[in-house]
Amino acid sequence: MMHDFHYKNRELYCESVQVKDVARKVGTPFYLYSYKTLTEHLEKLERAFRSMKPLICFSMKANSNLAVLRSLVRKGAGLDIVSGGELFRARKAVCPPARLVYAGVGKTNEEIEQGVRVGILLFNVESVPELEQIQHVAGKLRKRVKVSLRVNPDVDAGTHEHIATGKRESKFGLDLDTAFRVFQGSDRYPDLDLCGIHVHIGSQIVRGGPFLKAFRKVMIFMTRLEKQGRKIEYLNLGGGLGIIYSDEQPQTADEFAKRILPLFRGRKLKIILEPGRFIAGNSGIFVTRTLYIKRTAGRNFAIVDGGMNDLIRPALYDSYHEIWPLVVNGTAAKYKYDVVGPICESGDFLARNRMLQELEPGDLLAFASAGAYGFTMSSNYNARPRAAEVLVQGSRFAVVRKREKHADLIRGEHIPKWV
Ligand code: LLP
Repeated sequence: MMHDFHYKNRELYCESVQVKDVARKVGTPFYLYSYKTLTEHLEKLERAFRSMKPLICFSMKANSNLAVLRSLVRKGAGLDIVSGGELFRARKAVCPPARLVYAGVGKTNEEIEQGVRVGILLFNVESVPELEQIQHVAGKLRKRVKVSLRVNPDVDAGTHEHIATGKRESKFGLDLDTAFRVFQGSDRYPDLDLCGIHVHIGSQIVRGGPFLKAFRKVMIFMTRLEKQGRKIEYLNLGGGLGIIYSDEQPQTADEFAKRILPLFRGRKLKIILEPGRFIAGNSGIFVTRTLYIKRTAGRNFAIVDGGMNDLIRPALYDSYHEIWPLVVNGTAAKYKYDVVGPICESGDFLARNRMLQELEPGDLLAFASAGAYGFTMSSNYNARPRAAEVLVQGSRFAVVRKREKHADLIRGEHIPKWV
C-alpha cells in the first residue's frame, strides 16, 4: 500500500476516519495526515537498508508539525534540520540531539552556536567559510564538533530545475576537488572532526540512475581519501526519493537499496538518509470546500476556499496533485475544471484542465500527496490565516495545529506613535 486513503461507499476515508467528519468538525481548509502512512514509509526505508542499520533523519522542511515529528522520532527517526527554527521544533518534538543533522548553506553564527551547545550529531557543511565559522564557535565553546562535508558530485538529477541541487553550477556543496583539499588541510580545524560526507542531488528523483551515478563518484572520492589515510565514518546519502503524484513510476525503497547497497560493500560506514517527501508526501491531503462555480467562455472555474498561500506547489512548480472528491457522486459524466483559490493572483490555482465529476458549491475536494512541502510552505498572503492540521490514527483524529485566527495575523505588529 502506498497510502491509507481510500473510498468506502463513495466516501473518502483516511484510515478508519471519514474525512467529511473531520471537515464538519474542523472546518475547511485543512491538512490531514495519516499516522499509519507516515510511520510505514519510515519502516519501509528502514527495512530496505536494514543490513546497514541506517540513521533515517526525516527532512523536516517537508513537514514540521510537532505531532508528525514526534510520531517519527518515537519510531526511531532522527531529523534533518536547516535552521534555528527547525532546531527549536526538533527539541520540542524531543528528538535526541544525537539524531540531528544540520544542513543549509547559510547557517548564522547563532544557529551554529545553538547546534554545538545542543550537541547535534553532525553539521553538513556547504562551504569553506562556513567550516571556518564552525571551527571558530567550537574553539570558543571548547567543544569537539563532528562535521560532514557536503560534496557536489555534478550530476543531473533529472528533476524540476527548482529542486535540483547536484549540478556544478548550484549553490550547494563543495566540488570534489575542493572537498579533497579541505580534508587534506583538516589541521586548520583543530576542534572539528571531519568524519563524514554528505551528498544530496535534488528532490523528487524517480529514477535510480542519478543516485547511482552520484554515489559512485562519492565512493571513488572516498577511496581517494582513504589512500591519503583519511577515514570516513559517516556517509549521508541525502533525500530526494521521488513519489507518485500522477503517473510517475518511482523506484521503491527496496529497489533503491538493492541498487546502491553494493556500492558500500566491505566498508564500515554509518549510513544516514534524509528523506522528506518519501515519508510525508503521500501521507497527507489538503481539503478544501467549493465556494462557487464560475463558467466563462470555454472554462469552468471551481473556486475553492484553499489557495496558493496554503498549497503553493502547483503555482511554483506546476506540480500535479490528484483531486479526490470527499463524496463521489456516482455519475459517469465528467467536466473540465480549473480549480482555483480566492487569492488575487492569476497564479493562484491548485489544478488546471482537470476532468472531474460535476461540482457544486459546498462540495469538498481533497488534494492528494500534499503531506510534504504543503503546510510548511504555506503563508499568510492576502491576510489568510493558515489552515488547520489534523492527524489521524486508526479511528481517531486530533487537531495537531489549530487554524490560525485573525489575531494571529497581526501578532507582533505595532503602530508607532509617530505614524
Ligand atoms: N536533504 C537536503 C539537504 C535537502 O535539501 C532536502 C530537500 C532533503 C534532504 C529532502 O528532500 P526530499 O527527500 O524531500 O526530496 N519545495 C520543493 C522541494 C524542495 C526540496 C528541498 N530540499 C517541493 O515542494 O517539491
